[in-house]
Amino acid sequence: MQHLQQLVMEAIETSKFPETPSNLYDPIRYILTLGGKRVRPVLTLMAAELFGMQDMTDIIPAAKAVEFFHNFSLIHDDLMDKAPLRRGKTTVHEKWDANIAILSGDGLLVKAYEEISKCNPVYLPATLKILSKVAMEVCEGQQLDMDYESRSSLSMAEYLEMIRLKTSVLLGGALQLGAILSGADELQQQLIYDFGENVGLAFQLQDDILDAYGDPETFGKIVGGDILINKKTFLLVKLMAVISQEDKPILKNLLEAPAENTPSKINDMLALYGKYEIKAAADKLKDSYTQRAFEKMEALNVPNHRKEPLLVLANNLLVRQQ
Ligand code: IPE
Ligand code: IPE
Ligand code: MG
Ligand code: MG
Ligand code: MG
Repeated sequence: MQHLQQLVMEAIETSKFPETPSNLYDPIRYILTLGGKRVRPVLTLMAAELFGMQDMTDIIPAAKAVEFFHNFSLIHDDLMDKAPLRRGKTTVHEKWDANIAILSGDGLLVKAYEEISKCNPVYLPATLKILSKVAMEVCEGQQLDMDYESRSSLSMAEYLEMIRLKTSVLLGGALQLGAILSGADELQQQLIYDFGENVGLAFQLQDDILDAYGDPETFGKIVGGDILINKKTFLLVKLMAVISQEDKPILKNLLEAPAENTPSKINDMLALYGKYEIKAAADKLKDSYTQRAFEKMEALNVPNHRKEPLLVLANNLLVRQQ
């Protein structure tokens, strides 16, 4: 897996963009060199390897397309979530401004399509179809995420569908692209996609957990950021479902707290999460999605030793701290 990570990092970090207009291309260079785990492009390469591909040259553009798309979504997501910090550094809209974040994000989206167009032409209709499907679903998930911020109630089913769209489909799609480009048949493509979608659900649950419980030294984003904007995370949705009548007014007051009450809002919300053992519920659900992902992998028709790296990665993502 490490060799694939290395390949991806080099391919992304040596990408060339024009010098001018600098307010368009500097933010693109900036976000792409901030680091990040590179999970999605590595998944694309890992899927190709799973299905027997040995030379990764032809798959690299697909891996880049996936990471460019992801970084586009992060630039816009930070603007939408009013987030000041990404990967330990100032976000694009804070370092430059909102208009620059919109346009440089759009530019990266175009670049994602430019990359996918470099893949094996035999598979171009299939790869374009998957990238477009997934990309549109991410937009749907992001819109629901925004709509839900101001909702006073949200069911767990609505929450899970929202995170499936905003996060999980891209992990599934990244894997499916690798499968398509290595000639896997439709059933195998579906199984690896389903593996990714389940890993993705666990991944977003861990993201929600880290947003409240991460270590500020290593997390790279603001801890408590979701609490401050009343984001409907698993933690909040679950709390709203189980909270007693007696504690409901406390939660209501917290959700209506003015912005200047920052530290106490975070602490008081964490106290409620603690009282109702919300984090344990999140961990439990995370484990059950990982289990489902493993079942999909089990059903895949490739030699077991080739499945190992993806199973290890899925486990690592569950316990990640950033
Ligand atoms: C952040 O994704 C956005 C989510 C879908 C949770 P990552 O946690 O993969 O972010 P980077 O790319 O490693 O910074
Ligand atoms: C991420 O959701 C979804 C997308 C970027 C499409 P979050 O808003 O939870 O991601 P982070 O926590 O800012 O990385
Ligand atoms: Mg965000
Ligand atoms: Mg968001
Ligand atoms: Mg988050």
